[in-house]
Amino acid sequence: MNASSPSPAQNQAATATLYGGVTNRRITVRDLATAKQRGEKWSMLTAYDALTAGVFDEAGIPVLLVGDSAGNCHLGYETTVPVTMDQMVMLSAAVVRGTKRAMIVADLPFGSYQESPAQAMRNAARLMKEAGVGAVKLEGGERSARSIELLVEAGVPVMAHIGLTPQSVHAFGGYPVQGRGDEAAHQLLRDAKAVQQSGAFAVVLEAVPAELAAQVTEQLTIPTVGIGGGPDTDAQVLVWTDMAGMTAGRVPRFVKQYADLRTVLGDAARAFAEDVRGGAFPAAEHSFH
Ligand code: KIV
Repeated sequence: MNASSPSPAQNQAATATLYGGVTNRRITVRDLATAKQRGEKWSMLTAYDALTAGVFDEAGIPVLLVGDSAGNCHLGYETTVPVTMDQMVMLSAAVVRGTKRAMIVADLPFGSYQESPAQAMRNAARLMKEAGVGAVKLEGGERSARSIELLVEAGVPVMAHIGLTPQSVHAFGGYPVQGRGDEAAHQLLRDAKAVQQSGAFAVVLEAVPAELAAQVTEQLTIPTVGIGGGPDTDAQVLVWTDMAGMTAGRVPRFVKQYADLRTVLGDAARAFAEDVRGGAFPAAEHSFH
């Protein structure tokens, strides 16, 4: 095979669908690029542990994000801000171990890349070498362009994240919708083009008007991944605990709940406690003699 003829894996990337296809290897950035060319929409979920990640992998979700939403959805913090590199490495390694097919993308947490491109590189390398992830995600458009460029040059696939960037919650004063009004919309477009120009393979658009997300998706050649960005992005991501009904209390308007796991688990725990209290568990079949 010479350098210009496509390898079997490249041919497979050009023809296989993301959902249900490509079973003998992990999804790659090439698969996502060809999905955009075909107009195939795809899904991404967050995952923070091996067991849950394995369920999503078996369900055919092509990309799993070890989001720093682990802060508020897994580790009990109020925001993503306190999450550390050591925590991200540990959670990401578990997700990699629990999966066979999904591309695993890990977030660079707050404070792990904003100082300089060199700092971003050092921490991205940790996620790739110690956890084994296939790509990293970082927040920011024009402001993160130099770091994205350096990572991509060094062989690190980068997913960018613009619009509502949760690591800036204290600067935003909450989680407001972004890109409303002409100037903000123009800035979002500039950010999207900057991350594409820097070599990002995809970009998350969080909490932006649907019409603007559609416009960005039209104008970019890389896939857009929406969360609160309406129906026209190339892919959709949800935080798994929101999607499956594990989150306590209100969830954002853009979430659709596909299960009520919080009730299911609570009912199971109450039934177990009741059986123990009443002596119904353990029964003979659960005992050794
Ligand atoms: O950390 C996360 O879960 C994210 C998603 C909301 C895209 O960044």
